[in-house]
Amino acid sequence: MTKAPPVIELHDLKKRFGVGDAEHLALNGMELVIEKGEFITIMGPSGCGKTTLLNILGLLDQSTDGQYKLDGIEVSSFGSRRKAHIRSQQIGFVFQSFNLIARLSVIDNVALPLTYKGLTKTKRLKMASDMLTNFHLEEREYYMPYQLSGGQTQRVAIARALVNSPSIILADEPTGNLDSHSSHIIMEELSDLHKRGNTIIMVTHNPRLTSYASRVITMLDGKIDTDTLMPLIEPPAVTPKRPLGAKTRKKKTTTKKKPAAKKATPRKKKA
Ligand SMILES: Nc1ncnc2c1ncn2[C@@H]1O[C@H](COP(=O)(O)OP(=O)(O)OP(=O)(O)O)[C@@H](O)[C@H]1O
Ligand SMILES: [Mg+2]
Repeated sequence: MTKAPPVIELHDLKKRFGVGDAEHLALNGMELVIEKGEFITIMGPSGCGKTTLLNILGLLDQSTDGQYKLDGIEVSSFGSRRKAHIRSQQIGFVFQSFNLIARLSVIDNVALPLTYKGLTKTKRLKMASDMLTNFHLEEREYYMPYQLSGGQTQRVAIARALVNSPSIILADEPTGNLDSHSSHIIMEELSDLHKRGNTIIMVTHNPRLTSYASRVITMLDGKIDTDTLMPLIEPPAVTPKRPLGAKTRKKKTTTKKKPAAKKATPRKKKA
């Protein structure tokens, strides 16, 4: 039996913004292979290219140079309709800004990605309602976005990203600025999706959240800086009592700043 291709494969990926003196490489030769079912957290200083990378992975933006294979197929040159179709079938995107539609109720926002699935309105609302219940928002279904707190708004945005059961979830700081209760609900849901075999790529500035990940990547200046496989153990709650720096387990860290090609080879998880 032939092995399925990696879900995501990047080779020498570059993204250039601006021209002439203002030219800037937000991604500067990314090499990355992601296998189905990985839970990856991406960290790195502001401006290092995390959101740019997620936008390209989510087919919302196009690279300037290099290869992007999704399920073994080069997708960079696909037209916008084909990209939109792949997105609606396969990819759930949680944006850094919430992006809820202000004139739609909470439940209509969540049901929106189901519009083109050929489902009846009743079925779409039922699916949206079930998803909102997962995020403890069943009493807020008919609120308007402006009536929600920041944490509730972000939970609605995540419910919307997940309602059509995407196999790849891209999340850009999904718990940024949230209280620990909301963070916990979101991380538990992402963790559950991971356990069900979905691939999750999450940008975060919070080192604690890496405990949910199977692999932790740090970026610097548009490239991968470190790439670490994590042992598979049950993550602690988001708000453990122990101090931030106190690690309970060791990371297995790959050598820093290796040649790019070496990092692109798929690695096996430790049992
Ligand atoms: N549309 C754009 N036009 C010009 N430059 C851009 C554009 N989008 C991003 N950049 C630049 O690309 C670089 C990477 O930006 P990006 O948003 O990917 O950073 P980030 O790692 O997500 O940062 P943060 O942690 O602050 O969200 C930055 O220097 C940014 O100014
Ligand atoms: Mg960003």
